[in-house]
Amino acid sequence: MKILTVADQEEMSRRAAEMIIDLVRLKPSAVLGLATGGTPEGTYRLLALDHRKNGTDYREVRTVNLDEYAGLKPEDPNSYHTYMETHFFQYVNIPSEQHFLPDGTAASLNEECEDYDRLIDNLGGVDLQLLGIGRNGHIGFNEPGTAFNAGTHVVKLSESTRQANARFFGSVQEVPERAITMGIGTILKSRAILLLVSGPSKAEAMSRLLAGSEPDSNFPASALISHPNVTVIADAAAISAA
Ligand code: GLP
Repeated sequence: MKILTVADQEEMSRRAAEMIIDLVRLKPSAVLGLATGGTPEGTYRLLALDHRKNGTDYREVRTVNLDEYAGLKPEDPNSYHTYMETHFFQYVNIPSEQHFLPDGTAASLNEECEDYDRLIDNLGGVDLQLLGIGRNGHIGFNEPGTAFNAGTHVVKLSESTRQANARFFGSVQEVPERAITMGIGTILKSRAILLLVSGPSKAEAMSRLLAGSEPDSNFPASALISHPNVTVIADAAAISAA
């Protein structure tokens, strides 16, 4: 793992955006694995700005998102479909048929998961997977205890994850209890991984990640230790207590 320590969230976002822009310029048909949550919002904002000012072209880019809540329609204000539209897709020229997110309302969620892994394979795999981290070390929605070879699957969200994400909903009761997530096995197939970590609430997870010498299924982010091409960009607040 290559660890880059930066001053603050703004610098983290800038460095992440630069990596994504470099990749898209080098490989215009790149497959980008995208993440949601508060952490990557600044990166999406800077990618949108760069597209407007410098014309970085996303016409051939394909995107696959990590996860989606079960039971939320794409147009639900709290769905990750809506998040991606609001923060990124509306600002860049990726044709909408080249955006992919799991469908949390599919009649069979298990079939949806199998189809999603097949889709990623058919796209040729993910060139760069963007990740955030949960306070308990979850990546995507892979909660502690998830097998590291799992493909895309349905998960029951932990209470702490629902609490942490309640800020986007009216109350914790409104946070869905289940989600579809790329598995850790799916994530590890990505050719490169970019993990963003920001703020004091992530300091404990960051310190566990730095301290770990081998993968431990009780701490999902530790799976990244075994991947050959991982960059972690962490801001001072996330590192300070580490
Ligand atoms: C959610 C998402 C994760 C994200 C995590 C951290 O659970 N499924 O992909 O990394 O939250 O979110 P935040 O960046 O808001 O702290």
